[in-house]
Amino acid sequence: MVLVERHIRTFPNGNKKNATSQNPGKMTELLTSDPTDVQRAAELLRSGALVAFPTETVYGLGADATNDRAVAQIFAAKGRPHFNPLIAHVADFEMARRIAVFDDQAERLASAFWPGPLTLVLPLRPEAGIAPLVTAGLDTIALRVPDLPLAHTLLEAVGGPVAAPSANPSGRISPTTAAHVAEGLTGKIAAILDGGACTVGLESTIIGFEGGPALLRPGGLPVEAIEACLGAPLKAHEMGSTPNAPGQLSSHYAPYAAMRLNVSEPDEDEIWLGFGPDCAGAAMNLSPSGDLVEAAANLFGYLRKMDDLAAPGQRIAVAPIPEHGLGLAIMDRLTRAAAPRP
Ligand code: TXA
Ligand code: MG
Repeated sequence: MVLVERHIRTFPNGNKKNATSQNPGKMTELLTSDPTDVQRAAELLRSGALVAFPTETVYGLGADATNDRAVAQIFAAKGRPHFNPLIAHVADFEMARRIAVFDDQAERLASAFWPGPLTLVLPLRPEAGIAPLVTAGLDTIALRVPDLPLAHTLLEAVGGPVAAPSANPSGRISPTTAAHVAEGLTGKIAAILDGGACTVGLESTIIGFEGGPALLRPGGLPVEAIEACLGAPLKAHEMGSTPNAPGQLSSHYAPYAAMRLNVSEPDEDEIWLGFGPDCAGAAMNLSPSGDLVEAAANLFGYLRKMDDLAAPGQRIAVAPIPEHGLGLAIMDRLTRAAAPRP
């Protein structure tokens, strides 16, 4: 275990961002995958403290989902302006059943894709003892069983649901390494459990069931796989219709530099983020071979690096990305990153 102090990150474009706490006395423990460290992380969570932990999608900022005070601290640490409903992470399907009611279609998706990058929004069992802040007072709850073995070990050690949004300050790029988490939240949370780089690199796909299965947020599990499993198309994603889905804030997942999408020929004042083989001259390439899975895994990390590379006033231009498979979720995140800032 290592203790790190808050630090100021200076961006090469002259933007000085106080990346961490207003409370310089606070320390954040950096924990490894050692069993004693994982037990420590579980202990901290059970005691009501905040612990960032890895999943296959992105790092989550975890709190005991049955403890309202602990969950409230998530919003404080992230600087989130609204109490959006959060995803409750559980070790297995059995624990999920104790928290929510599964109909046939939910049952089918959970059996096919859990553990994995899929979140299901289901009717909450009131007796499950979930803190109302987790659901923002709704009578449904978002549930997910992460696939990463370290996340599974942690959730088993906690023995109950862990509420977790992505472990980044509100509105900034989601973290796919422990270093990304440390950059944004050091001094604001009790600990960071380091499980290496996330393999999927995009948040989970979210499915709701009100009036039939519907896509609430594209993500790490391709829509095509879900539709094939259900044997029917999902209802369309209705922008703005989901209760405060932060994925629906116009600007989200944003780097500091301005962005432009679907760019095959970048302007002089732009640095180019490529995709596929036809991007000679790109500063970085999400996947030179055009592999959408590789591009998803690289997306958030590369946006951070492009931000560092951008000179003052320079824009990030992104090459066209096909909107099928994981390309749908990649374009969803990029569109938000490029949206006008609040
Ligand atoms: O991969 C992921 O999903 C990551 C990792 C940490 O698991 N988590 C994540 O959480 O992305 P967050 O808080 O950034 O996104 C949660 C999403 C939001 O869009 C929220 O509005 C939606 O889930 N949500 C949660 N509960 C809901 C509910 N009852 N009804 C509709 N949407 C809900
Ligand atoms: Mg997020």
